[in-house]
Amino acid sequence: MTSQLVSISVTINGQLHTVETPPMQRLLDVLRDDLHLTGTKEGCGEGECGACAVLLNGELANSCLIPALHADGARIITIEGISTDGKLAPIQQCFLSAGGAQCGICTPGMILATHHLLEKHPEPTLLQIQEGLAGNLCRCTGYMRIFEAVQLAAAMCYQQ
Ligand code: FES
Ligand code: FES
Repeated sequence: MTSQLVSISVTINGQLHTVETPPMQRLLDVLRDDLHLTGTKEGCGEGECGACAVLLNGELANSCLIPALHADGARIITIEGISTDGKLAPIQQCFLSAGGAQCGICTPGMILATHHLLEKHPEPTLLQIQEGLAGNLCRCTGYMRIFEAVQLAAAMCYQQ
């Protein structure tokens, strides 16, 4: 049986893309397979780990749970949209400096969650950092270095 395709238009990292896709295809697959934006990772595939997180209309969302059709007309930021001109963004640099990334599978989602958190809370408490990253699991770091990376990013870039 062939699956009917739909045409969706999505603005990703400021660029408009039109994709023909099965309507229930996961946004994660559209990003990685159709658009080759492989910075977005797949961990659990069940909405539990946050490895596939993107910013969807300004909110953090797990792209493994979102059917492509629901993304039609949306504005999406992926990890590729965080850096400019191929240079690490300050949050990425802070994760590197603080040792907040090891295998890297969770890192794109962690960085997008951090960006989202710091937009809302430029001077986050440890509790706010823990809550802001609660949807993102890391099997490697034990979290403390990630929390330190967030504090470093907040101090460097978000506080007056
Ligand atoms: S891969 Fe989407 S939440 Fe784990
Ligand atoms: S760095 Fe490996 S899962 Fe977080």
